[in-house]
Amino acid sequence: MICSNIIVGSDHAGLSLKQECMAYLQKQGISVEDMGTNSEDSCDYPEFAVKVCNRVLESNSPGILICGTGLGMSMTANRFSNIRAALCTNEVMARMARKHNNSNILCMGSRIIGPDLAESILEAFLNTEFDGNRHQKRIDLIESLTR
Ligand code: RB5
Repeated sequence: MICSNIIVGSDHAGLSLKQECMAYLQKQGISVEDMGTNSEDSCDYPEFAVKVCNRVLESNSPGILICGTGLGMSMTANRFSNIRAALCTNEVMARMARKHNNSNILCMGSRIIGPDLAESILEAFLNTEFDGNRHQKRIDLIESLTR
C-alpha cells in the first residue's frame, strides 16, 4: 500500500499505543492526522471511530483505530459502507487483510498486543498490496449483498 498520509484515532485505552504508532509512522515520513482522543480521561470509542471513518472515506487515506481490544472500534467502523476494518493480532492477519480484503482501516487492541507487535502488524499492513481479481468481486459483494 503506497500511502503518504494516514488517519488515526483511539479511545483512552488505546491512546499510548496510538502515540507509539504515530511516532513510527512519522519516522517513515508518513504524515499523520490524529482525530483524537488526546487524553487518558475515559471516553467513548464510537465517537472516534466515526471521525476516522468519515475522514478515511473523504481522503482515501488508510486509517488506524485502537481501543482496549480493538473490538469496539472494528464493530463501529464496519457499519460504514466501503470501510473494511480489520482487527489484527498478528502479521499474517495484517497481510491477508490487505491482500484479500483490501482493508482500509487497521484496528488493534492495546490490551491485547504490545508496541513491538503493533509495529510489525502496522508495517505488514502498510507494505502489502491488494491482490484484486476474484477478491475485488467479493469485496463488491460485501456492498451489494449487505445494502
Ligand atoms: C474501554 O474500557 C474498552 O471497553 C474499549 O477500549 C474497547 O476495548 C472496546 O471495545
